[in-house]
Amino acid sequence: MRVLVTSEQDIASLTIKEHLLEAHAFSKTDDTFEGNPIYSHDDEVLLITTNRDMIHCDHLESHFETEAFIFCSRHRAESAKLYKPKVAPLPEKDLSEKEMIARIPKESPLIGAISCKRCHEVNYRNWLKTKHAKATQTIATSPRYAQEECLICHATGHGKIGEFVTVDEVPVYLRGVQCEACHGEGKGHPGKGEMERKVTLGVCRNCHTKDQSPTFNYLAYLEKIGCKISK
Ligand code: HEC
Ligand code: HEC
Ligand code: HEC
Ligand code: HEC
Repeated sequence: MRVLVTSEQDIASLTIKEHLLEAHAFSKTDDTFEGNPIYSHDDEVLLITTNRDMIHCDHLESHFETEAFIFCSRHRAESAKLYKPKVAPLPEKDLSEKEMIARIPKESPLIGAISCKRCHEVNYRNWLKTKHAKATQTIATSPRYAQEECLICHATGHGKIGEFVTVDEVPVYLRGVQCEACHGEGKGHPGKGEMERKVTLGVCRNCHTKDQSPTFNYLAYLEKIGCKISK
């Protein structure tokens, strides 16, 4: 007996599950696992879905004394190794500036827009009024299992400090498309680290792809980001 495990929290994993159910003769059994139906194929393969993150799939062994064949997305498994700050998920508005800054881990290469405010107050205030500042909020109501995919563009630092999976997991100091998404990592600046003043079209295109931003026009969009553009 082989057991295929898919995770409710992993979009890649869910896509594989949908494909298996569509393309192969899996039938629903009377059993469930963590509340999700278990499917079976010719009594040879079981397809089960866990609500948990696949990184923590050890718990399955106690349930299935079988040769387990487990789907873990490599993408997610690798992310576990990356540095991931532990920051309580509190809404920004409930925190004072001091409290926000106190929550930024010393090891973090990204220091957050709130750290730039002290010296670049005008840029900060203008940025707060842009859609970039609210980009994480925009996706808060989308299905949780899909949020990680969105957060690559709708937050700052995805993949650099570990992969946050849901909106709640985005460290409070990295919500929205922040200064550092365009100017680069701020740790050590000013002094040791110089910020990129020049922000090229390529930076915007990381997120403003043809699919996600069909009306993107570089010069027109530059007018609306809240920074002074040199002519
Ligand atoms: C302690 C004050 C201070 C903080 C905090 C600070 N900066 Fe600066 N920034 C400066 C100074 C001074 C300069 C000019 C000298 C230099 O380039 O280092 C500068 C220059 C820049 C420039 C280049 C501007 C130009 O005209 O060349 C950018 C872009 C920039 N900062 C962005 C940021 C961002 C983004 C953050 C937060 C991640 C940040 N800064 C945090 C003081 C600061
Ligand atoms: C890290 C990803 C990312 C980068 C880099 C980025 N953007 Fe954006 N941008 C977004 C997202 C996401 C939105 C939508 C925000 C929302 O409404 O939730 C957006 C929205 C905007 C908007 C608002 C559009 C409107 O409908 O009013 C402008 C203007 C904009 N971006 C300009 C730029 C420019 C110019 C650059 C490059 C200098 C850039 N962006 C770089 C992700 C990014
Ligand atoms: C490749 C980057 C990228 C990904 C991935 C992405 N977005 Fe976006 N999204 C953008 C950009 C850029 C904009 C701004 C488009 C514009 O105004 O030109 C945007 C705009 C939006 C808007 C419109 C906001 C407004 O103010 O009108 C919504 C809603 C949205 N995205 C939701 C999502 C959701 C939900 C997901 C995940 C399923 C997602 N996006 C994934 C880049 C992305
Ligand atoms: C969407 C990308 C983007 C974001 C987000 C962004 N900037 Fe900029 N910033 C630019 C671009 C583009 C320029 C103009 C570069 C040029 O033409 O010289 C610029 C210029 C600057 C400059 C030099 C000119 C000036 O306005 O004084 C500073 C300082 C700066 N940004 C700081 C910040 C800070 C601080 C934040 C966050 C609060 C921020 N930027 C957010 C893209 C961005």
